[in-house]
Amino acid sequence: MNNMSTSNITTTPTKASTMNETKISARDVQVYYGDKHAIIDVNIEIRPRTVTAFIGPSGCGKSTFLRCINRMNDTIASCRVEGHISIDGENIYDPKVDPVQLRAKVGMVFQKPNPFPKSIYENVAYGPRIHGLARSKADLDELVTSALQKAGLWNEVKDRLDSPGTGLSGGQQQRLCIARAVAVSPEVILMDEPCSALDPIATAKVEELIHELRTNFTIVIVTHSMQQAARVSQRTAMFHLGNLVEENDTDKMFTNPDDQRTQDYIMGRFG
Ligand SMILES: Nc1ncnc2c1ncn2[C@@H]1O[C@H](COP(=O)(O)OP(=O)(O)OP(=O)(O)O)[C@@H](O)[C@H]1O
Ligand SMILES: [Mg+2]
Repeated sequence: MNNMSTSNITTTPTKASTMNETKISARDVQVYYGDKHAIIDVNIEIRPRTVTAFIGPSGCGKSTFLRCINRMNDTIASCRVEGHISIDGENIYDPKVDPVQLRAKVGMVFQKPNPFPKSIYENVAYGPRIHGLARSKADLDELVTSALQKAGLWNEVKDRLDSPGTGLSGGQQQRLCIARAVAVSPEVILMDEPCSALDPIATAKVEELIHELRTNFTIVIVTHSMQQAARVSQRTAMFHLGNLVEENDTDKMFTNPDDQRTQDYIMGRFG
């Protein structure tokens, strides 16, 4: 957090990810649910092609802040977001921004796998179709195949693309949801506890996938598992009572954090 004031939020990232690049910039963000002040003065710069983990005790605001990044909070009537959030220097709360287009650019994977009640193929084809990304059936087939491959699911489903997505195992369903997010070529993928409903084997697969996806996408993941944060992320942000108390390299965060609250949380002293 100490270098915040020196970085330039309007910088457009170049191809290679370097230390000082910014993909997502949040400035003075406040979130209210009615009178409840759920996110207090949050400032953070999220780097491109990096996995950033959000950690902190239950109710500290991780999901609330994550949902600010693709304006999912717009769908909650009592919720009000203030401050500035930009992606590649563009204000995502500008009235000109269409939230539907924004959510194609900033995809989301939820805690509970939520495939549509449609075939495996249709689950993945839906996004490219509504966003007009395929010119022909062959194009669409290719997009679906490629997304399922990127999500590490292709080999398991290639012979059953017409079967319902809901008929897959929980871990497969979560990878289907990741394929669905990836299919529209997002730039950012937000994941809110994507492995909490999965067994250790399925979790390992999703973690491996996150590792691979980082080559092309900026990933923000909320997790309650310190081991998972340490395994998958390069940067970690610690929230507490609506405040962002520390953001640091993951290695440092788990060995020598700057903030006592981080230290207490990772040692299991609260939360
Ligand atoms: N839809 C809502 N309406 C009112 N208050 C809400 C709503 N969603 C969240 N809150 C409140 O905002 C605060 C932050 O909640 P949030 O869900 O962001 O926490 P979290 O860190 O994701 O917690 P968890 O780890 O349990 O998922 C909590 O006090 C919560 O009760
Ligand atoms: Mg949450």
